[in-house]
Amino acid sequence: MTDAIIRDLGEGLIIRHPTSEDAEALAKFNKEIHSEDEWDAKGLEDWTLDLISGESPTVGLGDFTLVEDTRTGEIVSSCCLISQTWSYEGIPFKVGRPELVGTKKAFRRRGLVRQQMDILHQWSEARGQLVQAITGIPYYYRQFGYEMVLNLGGGRSGYKTHVPKLNGDQEEPFTFREADKADIPFLMDTYNHGCQRSLVYAVWNKHLWRYELTGKRQYNLDKRDLYIIEDVAGQPVGFIGIPPLKWGSNSVLMVYELATGFSWSAITPSVIRFLWQIGEKLSEAQNHPKSGLG
Ligand SMILES: CC(C)(COP(=O)(O)OP(=O)(O)OC[C@H]1O[C@@H](n2cnc3c(N)ncnc32)[C@H](O)[C@@H]1OP(=O)(O)O)[C@@H](O)C(=O)NCCC(=O)NCCS
Repeated sequence: MTDAIIRDLGEGLIIRHPTSEDAEALAKFNKEIHSEDEWDAKGLEDWTLDLISGESPTVGLGDFTLVEDTRTGEIVSSCCLISQTWSYEGIPFKVGRPELVGTKKAFRRRGLVRQQMDILHQWSEARGQLVQAITGIPYYYRQFGYEMVLNLGGGRSGYKTHVPKLNGDQEEPFTFREADKADIPFLMDTYNHGCQRSLVYAVWNKHLWRYELTGKRQYNLDKRDLYIIEDVAGQPVGFIGIPPLKWGSNSVLMVYELATGFSWSAITPSVIRFLWQIGEKLSEAQNHPKSGLG
């Protein structure tokens, strides 16, 4: 049963799981609460629909809570718990990731998120998740026991002038093609090899790779378009992942890994040139100014 009431909060408010019939309303809710512009809204819509579609290996309808105002039938607050496996120095452990936490303005500061976090934490404990991790408002989640622990983001950015040029008639030494299911063993080997640089990393099995390649809607905020980097002989040397939506005016490279024995300094100029080309395409399609990459 995914539509059973989880808690009755009184005054017409109930916490329940969504059903598939709530999909559009929940996507609309998340767009309204979380998006900053039209493309962000599209990304949130696709992300929400994907998360509750039942296709994702790590989350489904039963992992969402929503607060319904039964007097109007509207969703006034919602969040979800994404279940993942991370590794600490090679030792896997389960992690629960609360996501898409939001409350409609008129219903804020009434403890609706506090109630739902409590439920998510119970689910997380019951699943044997040792850790909960959240990427959100830095101070807000401290009241629920969260502390700053891991770096979330960071990177380098540049402008057109920084894109390395090929010399004269030099041919591009590395080329890029969209990854497909047949590349999964290569993606997994290469990713796992790259993880050895990190004390903590997310464990990705073949189901997650398959879902990334074939399961997500086009503009899912959480999607990475994966490309295989090949040398002139057509041998795969690494891969990259680019979000299908620009981040403001930037085209972003979120994932970049090379197979054992290949040189970052030899391949990176080609990666930057390719990222710039993708940025130009996205810019045209998504109507952002053509200014940066990051
Ligand atoms: C942040 C947000 C999710 C809080 O939702 P909410 O339902 O109002 O939260 P709650 O009332 O359950 O908050 C729990 C506690 O935090 C306090 N609180 C709520 N919003 C707060 C804020 N902006 N700053 C500081 N404290 C806040 C509440 O007073 C409450 O404390 P109390 O129970 O001791 O009174 C909501 O404001 C929101 O949707 N914001 C826009 C979307 C967003 O930023 N989401 C988070 C993305 S990470």
